[in-house]
This record gives sequence, C-alpha cells and structure tokens, in this order.
Amino acid sequence: MKLMKGNLMLGVLLSTVFGALLMLLLAWTAPAHLRPLSPRIFSKKFEWQVQTPHPLDLKYPQSYPFLINHPDKCESPGDAPFLLMLVMTQPQDTGIRQAIRQTWGNETLVPGVVIRRLFVLGLPQPLFAQELRALLEEEDREHGDLLQVGFLDTYHNLTLKILTGLEWMAQYCPTAHYVLKVDNDVFLNPSFLVHQVLWPNGPRQLDFITGYIYRDARPERRPGHKWYMPPELYSQNEYPDYCAGPGYVMSGSLALRILTIAQRFKAIYVEDVFVGLCLKQLGVKPTPAPPNTFLMLRRKYNHCAFHRLVLVHHFQPQELLQIWPDFLTSNGACPSV
Ligand SMILES: *[C@@H]1O[C@H](CO)[C@@H](O)[C@H](O)[C@H]1NC(C)=O
Ligand SMILES: *[C@@H]1O[C@H](CO)[C@@H](O)[C@H](O)[C@H]1NC(C)=O
Repeated sequence: MKLMKGNLMLGVLLSTVFGALLMLLLAWTAPAHLRPLSPRIFSKKFEWQVQTPHPLDLKYPQSYPFLINHPDKCESPGDAPFLLMLVMTQPQDTGIRQAIRQTWGNETLVPGVVIRRLFVLGLPQPLFAQELRALLEEEDREHGDLLQVGFLDTYHNLTLKILTGLEWMAQYCPTAHYVLKVDNDVFLNPSFLVHQVLWPNGPRQLDFITGYIYRDARPERRPGHKWYMPPELYSQNEYPDYCAGPGYVMSGSLALRILTIAQRFKAIYVEDVFVGLCLKQLGVKPTPAPPNTFLMLRRKYNHCAFHRLVLVHHFQPQELLQIWPDFLTSNGACPSV
C-alpha cells in the first residue's frame, strides 16, 4: 500500500513534470491565437488585422469574367453609338428590365441617334443561382441586352458593376460618344438628354461628365448607416465633388480615363463617390447640367415638366408603364421656357 502510494506520488510528480514540458512545447509550436500574447506576437496580430480585408473592401482591380456577353452590341452599320446606356440591375429584376425596355430604355426612341442599352448585373445569391440562370438565359435570348459579370451582386459591390461595365465599354465599345450610368429606379427622358445636354451636332465634349452634383459632402461615420464609410477605408473628412449615382453621363473618352485611373488606387464601395475620386485624380470637374434637370427627389408626373428634364429618381416600373403613353404624346402645347 505504502509502496503503491509512493508509486502514485511518483506518477503524479512525473506526469506533472511531463505535462508542464508538454505545455511548454505546445506554447512553442501552437498557432498564434492559442499562445499567450508576447509583444512580437501582438504586433503579428496587428499585421493580420491590417492584411485582412475590411468587409466593405472591394476586390479590385481583378478580372471578373463576362458570363453573359454581347461583344457585337455596339457594332452598328455606319456610326459608333452616340449613347451607351449602362443600366444597373440585379439578376432577379426581370420585371423592371422589361418595363425599362418598353419605356426609356427603348433604343430607337430618339430618331437619328444610335443608342445602345445594356443591363449590367452580377451573380445572384447562391441559393437562387440555379433557378435564375435559366430565366436569365431565356431573357437574354429574347432581348440580347444582358451583361452578367462574375461577382456577387450586392449593394456593396455596386462600384464593381460600373467599373466592369466600363471595362466592357473599353473592350467592345470604345468609340461610343457618351456613356450613361443609370440605376433602374428612375424616370429618364432620353430625348432631352440627347438634344439639350449632349448636343449630337455640337462639338465633342471630351472631359465631360454631368448629372446632379454633390458638393462638400462628408463621409457618413455612423456605423450601420447605408453609406457608412469606415475611416480605415476613407480617412479624409470630405468627399470631392461627384455626380449622384442614380444617373450621370460622361463622354466616352472620359469614361476610358476614369477606368484607367481606377486601377491605380483603392476603390471604395460608394460608387458615385468613387467616380468623384477618380475625377479628382484626373483633375476633371463635373460640368453643371441645366438647372433642375436631374432630380434626386421624387416628383409627381407632369407631362410638360417631365419633357423639360432628364431624370427623376424613385420611379417604380408600374408607374413608368403607366405614365409612358402620355409622356410619348406631343409636348407641342407645353409653354416654352
Ligand atoms: C420603341 O420605340 C419605337 C419608336 O417609337 C416603337 O416603334 C417600338 O415599338 C418601341 N419598342 C418597344 C419595345 O416598346
Ligand atoms: C463582392 O463580390 C465578391 C466576388 O464575388 C465577393 O467575394 C464579395 O463577398 C462581394 N462583396 C460584398 C461586400 O458583397
């Protein structure tokens, strides 16, 4: 018994020593997060945080494939397109796209002017991918106007949508005179845009971009806000002048320059602000549009008023379809301004 007790004691002693040795060994070889923090390790952890992308960080530049594409969309007999419309939509927005095709997205709405329309979309959430793929392919077979790019289609990836749209333009439509970036929740008057803002018969405006211009805007610093901008991603207290996201139009040559400069510094997810940052880098200022022609606040439809503006934000597809027949009637009786 005594002997056993002695053996037991020895056993406990040995296992304690062995255990301690084992712990030491573990401490030496275990991955960083299992080890106590030494100053060196602490700085390693800091490095890891710096290297690990912020959730709002964009993976750009990176080559995203065009999954549904129309390389010859811009090849029209004769002239290069006067206006390329890049309409930002999401994969599931089938009904919205249809309403846009039947209203302001109609390519033949402005006589004598070549307009080309592409809907830019990313990938649906994996859960719906299978179902949507068949639907999108069918829609595209019928209309031939989808440009699907291989990144997840989320609000925070909107910057990728415009940049990859411009990549498409650079590759397949580099001679378009003007490029319009437009969201899918607007009313648009292409005729006024073409004839009163872009002037097909006037001189080509090279470093030209216009829309509703935000000046002296500040980054949103309240976490959880739709446009929250963490200081780690953008540290300055002011944004440069920029054209509001729902719709802005730029010359083809400026679009190409924006794309080039966008490869050279860190992209941020607020798409319109990012285009503003590119403009600042290029030393280009947005050109003011004719007063009250790009409206960011909803306006009730009025035949004559809507004939004298370019864009009104916040229009649903049903409303578009509803007002369109009236909008297409002559505006001859409207007072001239
Ligand atoms: C587009 O506009 C033209 C000319 O106004 C018209 O003939 C055509 O039906 C329209 N297309 C669609 C899809 O609404
Ligand atoms: C943006 O798209 C990339 C590529 O598909 C994806 O990995 C990432 O999660 C998306 N980012 C956001 C913020 O949705």
